[in-house]
Amino acid sequence: MTSDLTARARQILIDNDRGGFTVPTPRLYPYQWNWDSAFAALGFSVFDRARAWRELETLFEGQWADGMVPHIIFRRNDPDYFPGPAIWQSGTMPPSSGHSQPPVVASIARHLMDTGSTADRDHAEALFDRIFTWHNWFHTMRDIDGSGMIGIVHPWESGRDNCPDWDLGLDAMEVPADLDRYERRDIHCVDADERPTSQQYDRYLTIVKFGRDCGWDHRRIAKEGPFFMADPCIQFVLMRADRDLLEMARGFGRIDEARRIESWIAKCREGCQRLWNKDAGAFCARDLKTGRFSDRMTNVSMLAFYAGAGTAAQRAALIDQAGDILKACRYGFPSWDPRSPAFESRRYWRGPVWAVVNYMMARGLEEYGEAALAARIKSDTLELIERAGFFEYFDPISGEGLGGGNFTWTAAIYLVWSLDANTLQAA
Ligand code: DGY
Repeated sequence: MTSDLTARARQILIDNDRGGFTVPTPRLYPYQWNWDSAFAALGFSVFDRARAWRELETLFEGQWADGMVPHIIFRRNDPDYFPGPAIWQSGTMPPSSGHSQPPVVASIARHLMDTGSTADRDHAEALFDRIFTWHNWFHTMRDIDGSGMIGIVHPWESGRDNCPDWDLGLDAMEVPADLDRYERRDIHCVDADERPTSQQYDRYLTIVKFGRDCGWDHRRIAKEGPFFMADPCIQFVLMRADRDLLEMARGFGRIDEARRIESWIAKCREGCQRLWNKDAGAFCARDLKTGRFSDRMTNVSMLAFYAGAGTAAQRAALIDQAGDILKACRYGFPSWDPRSPAFESRRYWRGPVWAVVNYMMARGLEEYGEAALAARIKSDTLELIERAGFFEYFDPISGEGLGGGNFTWTAAIYLVWSLDANTLQAA
């Protein structure tokens, strides 16, 4: 861990700050993204606590009246990004996209509290009701039949946009003849072979059109929309975030809310059993329209540890399979199984390694005493960054840095893990 690189990581956060909120990377993503902002707060917490809380507070400026916190908040129109506010037509102020993203905020707020002072506790208490309302939205609008499986209405809601997990749902969709013509902007910033395909974009835009045409009626989008799939990432991130929110509720004396959160946790524990795909030996995505499973273990299957989900036998099976996957690539953990024909080592979520998923994975593994695997995941992540730079994602075979550069969440994870290493050295 070099001090030059930690200084560089800090500077990336500072440079990507747009005045209270941070962009994931200039040009490619010029607005405030939901889970990116939560990880930005984690990074800021290493050197500027007040700024860390500001990031979370500005994220909630975009919260909808029904509790949803959208995946992008558009504070101004930026021609570098498509699809912008005019396409989403959220009808909210500030304008935003029309669905959410993995709710990591409660876990990061709790981490700030646990590692901070009474000021951190006060900030967390002030945000509590907003976070609670957001989780409630997930447990109602994304679990419409009360199965305990949390669905997504758009691949972008998972944060894992073009993972092969979503091929099932996307391939079953029809693109309407009256879909407006559009021009992608992302491939002006990043090589097209590192990004989703145009067939996938047509389907992404089809879902946005459905949401816009029904005035973002979320019950209707989940029931009748073109796409509804259960996502192990949202499921496990929410389960972990519920546990962290529960600790906060108890600490703040919020008895009624604590009871509600306990019931969410119990239901999702049952629900995640419906995501166990025996044939794949892993928790997998599942099409909620047909019941069909995605057929491979992914990096987010491993978040079962972070969530405290699954049985001991299921977790042991995940560890075994993780070993086989890691033998098939140089750097862990790939976002898709390198032994599968759908694996593409450079294309966004169809193979590359992502620092934020590795961060959550390593935390969960450590908590379950899987120290060796956690250490491997951590050291691979740091080596990738040290060799290639602060990229958005990395090729698990060659180690090449891909996607956007000077990336906020990659810098944030580097900062947090360097702090851990320094604390260890000092102890
Ligand atoms: C994009 O535009 O690629 C984003 O990932 C959508 O959230």
